[in-house]
Amino acid sequence: MLALVVAGTRPEVIKLSPVMRAFEDSDINYIFVATGQHYSFRLFQKFIEELKFPEPDYNLDIGSGSQAYQTARAIEGLEKIISQANPDVIVAQGDTNAVLSVALASSKLNIPFVHIEAGLRSFDMTMPEEVNRVVADHLADILFVPTERSGLNLLHEGISREKIFITGNTIVDATLQNIELAEKKAEVDIPSGYFLLTLHRAENVDSERRIRNILEALEELDEEIIFPVHPRTVQRIESFNLAGNFHNIKQIKPLGYLDFLFVLKNARAVFTDSGGVQEEALTLGVPCITLRTSTERPETLEAGVNFLAGVDREGILKAADKALSGINFNLKNPLGDGQAGKKIVETLLNLKAEGRLDLKKPEKKIGEEKRRFLRVGSELKGKRIYNSNLEIQRVIQSGRELFPGENLILEQDMLIEIIERKFY
Ligand code: UD1
Ligand code: UDP
Repeated sequence: MLALVVAGTRPEVIKLSPVMRAFEDSDINYIFVATGQHYSFRLFQKFIEELKFPEPDYNLDIGSGSQAYQTARAIEGLEKIISQANPDVIVAQGDTNAVLSVALASSKLNIPFVHIEAGLRSFDMTMPEEVNRVVADHLADILFVPTERSGLNLLHEGISREKIFITGNTIVDATLQNIELAEKKAEVDIPSGYFLLTLHRAENVDSERRIRNILEALEELDEEIIFPVHPRTVQRIESFNLAGNFHNIKQIKPLGYLDFLFVLKNARAVFTDSGGVQEEALTLGVPCITLRTSTERPETLEAGVNFLAGVDREGILKAADKALSGINFNLKNPLGDGQAGKKIVETLLNLKAEGRLDLKKPEKKIGEEKRRFLRVGSELKGKRIYNSNLEIQRVIQSGRELFPGENLILEQDMLIEIIERKFY
């Protein structure tokens, strides 16, 4: 089996690394394509080296530019490589422009697209990442979701249950695989008490008002703030003339992965607008204050470890107070058990063996799809969903929707949606 794996940015290398490890231990061969969206040493190559990720077989060198420019260049480059390599599957992760390009290129060439970390939704379509998530998920053939909740998001949009697999998020694997090494090998000096800050989301840093508000609020905190600054943010701080305004906030270059994990683990709390950092903070038990008005990771809020602060002074300081007032970390990580990479690879191998990766061959085209609702009566009661002959898309029990997972047992009066498909 041959997989084509595509990554464009720092977080994709981190989150794909557990999958690459699992590929190495399996019969799956892979080709690795970098889109070149991140090209600075400290945003890409450093992570390839630290995570022992393979060097790219191809680099599309798309570089920086507008959303359309980056996406279009990557689609063009990918089309050529995919046509030559003819892989069994194409794998991409998350919500960056690389994922959007892969979704479009692979679906037009009828090669199965595997989307890892599918199903996340901020419900804010002004974010470029949300547009990427929605489009990618609708074009994906196999969707690996981190949680039941992200699986339900997909069902609500009509995406077929049979394409969705709950595995946990690979960031948990990466964090657990690397934290000990990070504590041993970190080369960064830390003070005895400090906060950590990361900030790069376009809607925050491209707005002078927002970035100023955020930094001014954080400047009021009683402890030093370590701020490894993303290059997008470096540029904005310069162009908005903010550089000399902050003394409590110590700006440093972006950190390597091991250094970053070490600094995060030892921080009193982290302030961030990053997706991955919210997940790592939960995994490492560090209070997190999210500098955004929404998050596509609500599980971290429900766990009581992440606090959504908004982007104004009062909200930020209030959320900081809450986060610092003591948090119970004795919880099961809702984002997974650190085995997501293995589960993803095992599932791909099973799907291949069952012929389910050939879905797009012309003879397997679906001609008709009918959906209908049923109330569970005595004839179905007690059946395990996956032992029945019915394909069940949605399950509602006492007004609450459940994900039709493999272990779900049908109970009297549940409302279920059934799909019938005809193949011609
Ligand atoms: C991108 C992703 C974002 C992700 C982030 C991870 C999209 C739409 N955005 O945002 O979801 O959270 O990566 O960090 O895909 N630059 C450099 N060196 C580089 C790359 C960029 O200096 O290697 C500078 C350029 O001036 C560029 C700016 O950073 O214009 C922004 O880079 P870009 O890749 O467009 O978006 P990110 O903000 O990195
Ligand atoms: N990270 C890092 N060095 C830094 C900042 C972040 O190694 O200076 C890592 C961090 O461990 C996390 C990932 O980068 O796994 C998050 O990337 P980013 O915030 O750029 O993107 P997002 O997760 O928001 O897409």
